[in-house]
Amino acid sequence: MKKRLLWNLLFVIAVGTVVFFWLIDLISKHTEESMSFIDVSYREELREYAREAERILYEEGEDALEIWVKEVEEREDTWIAIAQSSITTLSNTSLSQSYTDNFWLGRSLEWKIHLYFAENPTMDIFFEDGVNHFLIQLPQRMRPGSNLLIIDLILQIGIPFLLLCLITFVLYRHMMKPLKKLEKATRQFSKGQLDVRASDGFSHRDDELTKLASTFDHMAGRISRLITDQRQLLADLSHELRTPLTRLNIAVDCVEQNLDSDKALERLRYESSNMQGLIDDALTLVWFNTESPKLDLEDLEITSLLQVIVEDAQYEFSQHKVRLIQLESEFFIKSAQQALTAALENIIRNALFHTPIGKTVTVELKQKIDNITIEVRDQGYGVPEKYLEKIFKPFFRIKQENQDTERSVSSKKSGYGLGLALAKRQVIALGGSIYAENLSHEQGAGLMVCIQLPYCASLTQRRNE
Ligand SMILES: Nc1ncnc2c1ncn2[C@@H]1O[C@H](COP(=O)(O)OP(=O)(O)OP(=O)(O)O)[C@@H](O)[C@H]1O
Ligand SMILES: [Mg+2]
Repeated sequence: MKKRLLWNLLFVIAVGTVVFFWLIDLISKHTEESMSFIDVSYREELREYAREAERILYEEGEDALEIWVKEVEEREDTWIAIAQSSITTLSNTSLSQSYTDNFWLGRSLEWKIHLYFAENPTMDIFFEDGVNHFLIQLPQRMRPGSNLLIIDLILQIGIPFLLLCLITFVLYRHMMKPLKKLEKATRQFSKGQLDVRASDGFSHRDDELTKLASTFDHMAGRISRLITDQRQLLADLSHELRTPLTRLNIAVDCVEQNLDSDKALERLRYESSNMQGLIDDALTLVWFNTESPKLDLEDLEITSLLQVIVEDAQYEFSQHKVRLIQLESEFFIKSAQQALTAALENIIRNALFHTPIGKTVTVELKQKIDNITIEVRDQGYGVPEKYLEKIFKPFFRIKQENQDTERSVSSKKSGYGLGLALAKRQVIALGGSIYAENLSHEQGAGLMVCIQLPYCASLTQRRNE
């Protein structure tokens, strides 16, 4: 799901907060409701007062009742009255029976008490005679909801505060845990631990932070590959330079001692130009590796370019045959001439170098549905299957005697093992791909190196013109 973290946060914060405050409101109302009634024991006490008043009135008379009332009023710090209710209507009007039946001078003990009224309500208890009312202003000690303020504070400030703190803490942990892992991985990586990856600890989640971790891993993978390749390249390069440098030193010694100076000078020239070539190739390779450059593409007529390359190769390897199988008409592609020529020259030179004298190297241009293909087929001994991919790695060469790898021996005839590595990067920079495969006996044995180049739709038109 896209933006999972956002949806999670939205759910927890928006939905959670609304539900939470709705619950708090519900609980507050319920608590307030349950606190709005006079306690049962107090109700009984008040009824007892009423019964006592009725008894005194009928058994001891009004004077005794007055004394008792005064005493209770003092004790409870309130007022008490014994009253009769009779309503006189005017102008020949009359009250409904149900109204007179339910007429109260004060409030029933069972009724709800308004907690926010400043004055205590007057309670009304009927005497047994059904005529007199025992009226008493509710004593303060019996008033319900005395701890309403505290409960309100707890429900509306205390609990929301604690719960929001908890939610903030949980959200913080939810966000910070992966960020901390990422921060740790970044720190380790910056200290040189190139194999460290961040997304290992993210398997249980799938959100924006997981994406961040996998982007980090992608970056770490690329940087560590670059660094490893660079280190390897540097090690190989210094190794490769050792032999020509030794030969250079020997030649310099010869010149100093006037021993066969001409030959030594010739050797000096040869070795230095060799080293120059090696360093140029290595630097170009480093440039391709680090920059991943996008080459400027131009309209290139491929058939005449192949013609020139093949003629040059035939001239250089006059004892071999170089055959070109072309398309019938001109064919334009979008490409960079310099890079494509360099790659093709490398591959064709390899093919000729590994093909016995008198045999043929074939270069064939094919037009496919979605690309154009250039195949270079030779009649040499091919490459062991296990090395078909490795020959595109820098400084990788195959020993001819036992067909084993060799990274150190450089002779006058064999190169440094940079040609195919460069060709691969050049073809990739042109938007194409390259691979090698061994040919069957029927196909003439040997190796085939195949370049596939993208085919630009706009150029089809020019071809047909
Ligand atoms: N056509 C081929 N037939 C057999 N082996 C080949 C062929 N082309 C390349 N190889 C093997 O692949 C290795 C790598 O080739 P690559 O062109 O990269 O290096 P190189 O030719 O040895 O040196 P460089 O091209 O740098 O002068 C070669 O050393 C060779 O062993
Ligand atoms: Mg080569």
